[in-house]
Amino acid sequence: MANDRLDMVIFAATGHTGKYVVKNAIHVCKDQKMKFGIAGRRKEALDAIVKEFASDIADVPVILADVKNEKSLKKMTERAKILVNCCGPYRFYGEPVIKTCIATRTHYVDVAFEEQFMIEMELKYNEAAKEAGIYIVSACGLDCIPSELGVIFTQQKFEGEMNAIEIYMSMWLSPTEKIGPICNYGTWQTFVHNLAHIKELLALRKKLYPIKLPEFVPKLKSRLLHRSDVSEGWSLPFPSIDRSVVLRTQRFLYEKYKERPAQVQFYVTLKYFFEILILAIIGMFMFVLSCTACGRNLLLKYPTLFSFGIISSNPELLKPTYFSVTFNASGWTEKLAGPIDKHRDPPNKKVVTRMSSDSPGYELTSIAMILSAVTILNETDKIPDNGGVLTPGAAFGKTSLIEKLIKHNIKFEVISSTEK
Ligand SMILES: NC(=O)c1ccc[n+]([C@@H]2O[C@H](COP(=O)([O-])OP(=O)(O)OC[C@H]3O[C@@H](n4cnc5c(N)ncnc54)[C@H](OP(=O)(O)O)[C@@H]3O)[C@@H](O)[C@H]2O)c1
Repeated sequence: MANDRLDMVIFAATGHTGKYVVKNAIHVCKDQKMKFGIAGRRKEALDAIVKEFASDIADVPVILADVKNEKSLKKMTERAKILVNCCGPYRFYGEPVIKTCIATRTHYVDVAFEEQFMIEMELKYNEAAKEAGIYIVSACGLDCIPSELGVIFTQQKFEGEMNAIEIYMSMWLSPTEKIGPICNYGTWQTFVHNLAHIKELLALRKKLYPIKLPEFVPKLKSRLLHRSDVSEGWSLPFPSIDRSVVLRTQRFLYEKYKERPAQVQFYVTLKYFFEILILAIIGMFMFVLSCTACGRNLLLKYPTLFSFGIISSNPELLKPTYFSVTFNASGWTEKLAGPIDKHRDPPNKKVVTRMSSDSPGYELTSIAMILSAVTILNETDKIPDNGGVLTPGAAFGKTSLIEKLIKHNIKFEVISSTEK
C-alpha cells in the first residue's frame, strides 16, 4: 500500500451517519496523527461539511465519487489506506465499493446491519481480499460492535467455560424527552429491505456453512416476552443481525482456535410495557407489509405513519437515544481440554457484564466505526489471516479495540460473577 495515501477516506460524508463520522474522525485522527479526506457525490455539500466541522484543519481533501461510476470509486479508494463507507443501504450500494477496495488494495469498514449483504460479500470476496492482503469488516456501528465485543469481553472475564449468553439491548430517551422521532430514514429503508429478503437467509447461511456445528448442551432456549433479572423492563426477542453475527464469530473462533462456541440469544429491552407493545406492533406491520412490493412501497413512502412517528426523514428532528447492552452468561468454572468435550455436571457459574455509554446511538456508531478503522491500520498484525472478509469479533477479538472504546467513554464492566 503506497505510503502517500491518506490514512482514511470517509465515503458518503454528506449523509446523517457520515456527518457524525466526520465529526468524530477529527478528534480521533488528531490524536492518532492520521490524515483523512471526505468523499461523496455532491461537491457543494462536501465543501459545506468541511466548513462546518473541519475548518480549522489545514487540508481535508474532498473527493468526488458516485457508486454508479466505477472510475470515480477507483480514484477514491486508491487515495486511502482504509475506506470508511457510510453509503447505505449496503445491499444496493456496498458491493461496487468493496470490489474497488480489493482492486486498489484498500482496507474497508462499514456500518451495515444487513446479514444478507454480509454473507454474500464473504462468499464472493473472502479469498480475493485475502490475496490482496486487505480486511473488509462490516457492522462496525451500534450493530454489532457492542454485542460482538461485549461477548468477547465476557468470554475473557468468564474464567472457565461459557456455554450460553443472553444479550439484552436496552434503549431510552433522556428523561426530559417525550417519545418521538429517533431514527433516520436510511435505517428504516435498511430494515424494510432486510425483512423483505428474510426468507433468502436460510439458503445463504447453508451456503456459507455447509457443515453444521456439533450440538452443545444444555441448549439455550429463546424466551418470549419476559422480565429479566439482568435488564430492567420488558424484553422481547428482536430480529436484529447481532445474534447471527455473534454466532458467525463464535464459529470462526471455534474453527480457527478450537474455542468452544457460545450459544446466543438477543433481546431488546424497553422500560415500559406499552413501549414494547408499540415495538411489537411496528415489527408486525413491517413484517407483513414488507412481504409484497405494494406493502414495501407503502412502508417506504409513509415511514412516519407506519413507525408511529419513530422514523423521520428530517435528521434535525431526531431525539438522541441512549443504549446499554447487558450480557448474561452461564457455563462452568472448569474448562475442558477440547471444544467438543462434554461437561458431566450442570452449569455452575454465571457472569453478568455490561457495555454502556453516555453518548447517543449515532455518536456511538460513528466512534465505533472510526476506532475500528484505526485498529485495522494500527494493529494489522493482531487480526487473523492476513486479510479477508471478517465479522467485527473475528477481526478485533485479539486487538485493543475494547481498550480504545473505553478511552472514548464506552464502558465495559463486570456486574456480577457467581459460582454454585
Ligand atoms: N449499524 C448501525 O448501527 C447503523 C447506524 C446508523 C446508520 N446505519 C446505516 O448507515 C447507512 C446510512 O444511513 P444514513 O441514515 O446515514 O442515510 P442517509 O442520511 O440517507 O445517507 C446516505 C448517504 O449515501 C449517499 N449516497 C446515496 N447514493 C449514492 C451514490 N449513488 N453515490 C454516492 N453516494 C451516495 C448519500 O449522498 P447524498 O447526500 O449525495 O444523497 C448520503 O451521503 C444505512 O444503511 C443505515 O442502515 C447503520
